[in-house]
Amino acid sequence: MKQQVIDTAKALVADDKGLLAMDESNPTCNRRFAKFGIPQTVDARRAWRELIVTTPGLSKAISGAILYDETIREQKKDGIPFVRALNDAGIIPGIKVDAGAKDLAGHPGEKITEGLDELRERLAEYFQTGARFAKWRAVIAVGDGLPSPSCIEANAHALARYAALCQEAGLVPVVEPEVLMDGGHSLARCCEITETVLRAVFEQLYAQRVRLEGLILKANMVLPGLTCPTQESVDQVADATVGCLLRAVPAAVPGIAFLSGGQTGELASARLNAMNVRFKSRLPWPVAFSFARAIQQPAMGIWQGQQANVAAAQRALLHRAICNRAARRGEYTAAMELPSAGRGEHTRALGIPSPGQTKFAVSAA
Ligand code: G3H
Repeated sequence: MKQQVIDTAKALVADDKGLLAMDESNPTCNRRFAKFGIPQTVDARRAWRELIVTTPGLSKAISGAILYDETIREQKKDGIPFVRALNDAGIIPGIKVDAGAKDLAGHPGEKITEGLDELRERLAEYFQTGARFAKWRAVIAVGDGLPSPSCIEANAHALARYAALCQEAGLVPVVEPEVLMDGGHSLARCCEITETVLRAVFEQLYAQRVRLEGLILKANMVLPGLTCPTQESVDQVADATVGCLLRAVPAAVPGIAFLSGGQTGELASARLNAMNVRFKSRLPWPVAFSFARAIQQPAMGIWQGQQANVAAAQRALLHRAICNRAARRGEYTAAMELPSAGRGEHTRALGIPSPGQTKFAVSAA
């Protein structure tokens, strides 16, 4: 494996920054647009992604952006490819390379992520296009008798084969085994399953000769199921998550970046912050973020597909990114969520111009 892969992995979690996942598949992106009455078209998806990559100052909090196959081939309205725009902004382009989670035969309610066929060739093409890291997401459902050992094993094996191919191609694998929040399970059950899944994943990574120094683990936080009557405090979630990760994730891993999984932006920031306040100086790896919804959602609601709302939406996007950088430093506070005065202060502290005071080249759908 090239030294460049190790260097990229380190850069993705450096300076208290994190990843912005903007790699929703077309059906997922369309579903999110539908909630806000945004047209579900190629043009609208392109305009949304242009809004994101042209947000001034985003690189102060975001180290890398995960793109989708459609997006990595697209350009801004002025003809500049998104990949170049990200590089020019100091953000490392990445790409989602799995082909989605499909029903696992013989295992009702469980999924296996597909996409290994022709992956070597696709990775070479993505590298040529400018991607320097890649993502593969496996989903593990929790329920009566779920997950099955065979679902865990099959997904862990696929993650490891993908990771090995990425390193061969010069890309950092972002290895994402997501234990889903859906259901009424307890925090203790999520903890037990997350630990089992992570152990299986690292066993398979070892078997497939993946260098731990050249990957990022994208993990779920340890949380009670969405409909569990007991919802633990922010500090309890931080303790359970860090305890679980310490037991299962080798110290050689350069960083752990959490997915948000449907948590609100505020809660995801507060929980990440609590982990850093309570444990940062004692952890073998940085705990960072790789959020999609927890960064994008408020901004998407403001944008609504309208050119006139671009600057306000960019302010909201930047705000969430900055809150998460603060959470990595253990400096996130509820006061950061107060209307404009607080926000402006944090943005100015990073020397970022406020969207709306700068000229943007973003078009609406
Ligand atoms: O693979 C999942 C996404 O990259 C993270 O999305 O933060 O909305 O869970 P999320």
